[in-house]
Amino acid sequence: MKMWSGRFRKPLDPAFEKWQRSFGFDHRLLAYEVEASGAHARGLKSAGILTSDELISILKGLEEIGKRGAEDTNFLEDDEAEDVHHFVEKQLVAILGDTGYKLHSGRSRNEQIATDLRLFVRATIDQLTTEISEWLTVLLERAERAGNSAMPAYTHLQRAEPVLVAHWLLAYLEMFLRDAGRIADCRKRLNECPLGSGAVAGATLTLDRRTMARDLEFDRPTLNSMDATSDRDFVLEFANSLSMIGIHLSRWAEEMILFSTQEFNFVQLPESYSTGSSAMPQKKNADLLELTRAKAARLIGNSTALTVTLKGLPLAYNKDLQEMQVPLFEAADTLLFLFPLIVGFMNEVEFNYERMQAAAESSFMNAWAAATYLVQHGVPFRLAHEQIGKAVQIAIEKHCELQDLSLDELRELNPAFAQDFYSCLTLQSVLEIHDVPGGTAPRRVKHAIADAKLRLASLREEIHANA
Ligand code: ARG
Repeated sequence: MKMWSGRFRKPLDPAFEKWQRSFGFDHRLLAYEVEASGAHARGLKSAGILTSDELISILKGLEEIGKRGAEDTNFLEDDEAEDVHHFVEKQLVAILGDTGYKLHSGRSRNEQIATDLRLFVRATIDQLTTEISEWLTVLLERAERAGNSAMPAYTHLQRAEPVLVAHWLLAYLEMFLRDAGRIADCRKRLNECPLGSGAVAGATLTLDRRTMARDLEFDRPTLNSMDATSDRDFVLEFANSLSMIGIHLSRWAEEMILFSTQEFNFVQLPESYSTGSSAMPQKKNADLLELTRAKAARLIGNSTALTVTLKGLPLAYNKDLQEMQVPLFEAADTLLFLFPLIVGFMNEVEFNYERMQAAAESSFMNAWAAATYLVQHGVPFRLAHEQIGKAVQIAIEKHCELQDLSLDELRELNPAFAQDFYSCLTLQSVLEIHDVPGGTAPRRVKHAIADAKLRLASLREEIHANA
């Protein structure tokens, strides 16, 4: 039986009927639908609508439906169910007869879908946070293993200054820690229970909303029925955070692709995460990284589709909202599948420390440090900059580095140059002068690693607390 056929004289056009159904995708909300329906059933019992016996049989029926749904995919083949809510009602009636129809007393699918989606996003945030913490763990491990190895840092993709390899990896760690924070914020805001909001104006029975909310581990009931049934800002917030994660992953992937080229040769791609060419026998291609870069585009697409769907919808529920499920599921799956792969990749990728170090020691990346030497001797920075610029020009002409210029050559530019200038130009001292919190001086990076460990530990505690 349909959930709404009474007022209709004619059946639906069969093609339209099929087309408007959502069960083909919202069946993945079954576990949440069952859970939320249990809370509603208990609410109905407290409101005197269900007897104890009816409640017990409805809860049993729901449990069975949930179990079959999890174990048997054939169970979910249903050409009649309009959506997951209709499916559960149909199944319940198949088990209990007309008592099954009592479950829908005082509720609307509009509050149900809002509740199911909040439960889905909350659970996905928890899963994803675990995945991110694994990723952060491997980034941190690689940073520690890199010790004091150096590499060039780039601005405008031109060699700029040397940094520790660990410092570079920790830059990504910061991004993903913020991403974890963003979805944790989203979790806090979405954790309110729409049950009892009805179709738009609130339930028509006096249901104990606080108990239903507590039952589903929500912090509290939502405060406005129109908002609760029609907003999906939590979906947008979540999907936007996911596209941010995609952007971070894509930048990481792009750097790894560049660094794995013969031109850079900083990293060796792991064979287990690369593919070959059907034509060119010598090729080893960075497919995992390239697909990661492209997945970011998909994530941005999903979050754009969600944003545009919600924009312009009058209050309250509109069927347009049904279209928000697929992009949401797709975005969640994209990252849930991707993270374990890049963790595996990051465990295996090899860094060519010697190449990186050699690159860090050339191309005048000590020029700013050289200008700083003059500043320490009282030279105004702009003039020091100009004079070191001249020194660089001379060195380029002579095909050498700054440290290969003689004191006489340097003194022509500024008499302040002395023998100790050369010790300021070594890679070690160039790294060391970046001695500020957040800088790449080795002692600062050591501190940053220790600090990252603490923050990762508290993220793990958070995961534990929500489990
Ligand atoms: N399948 C619907 C959705 O995903 C459930 C809500 C239907 N509500 C309605 N008034 N037709 O949005």
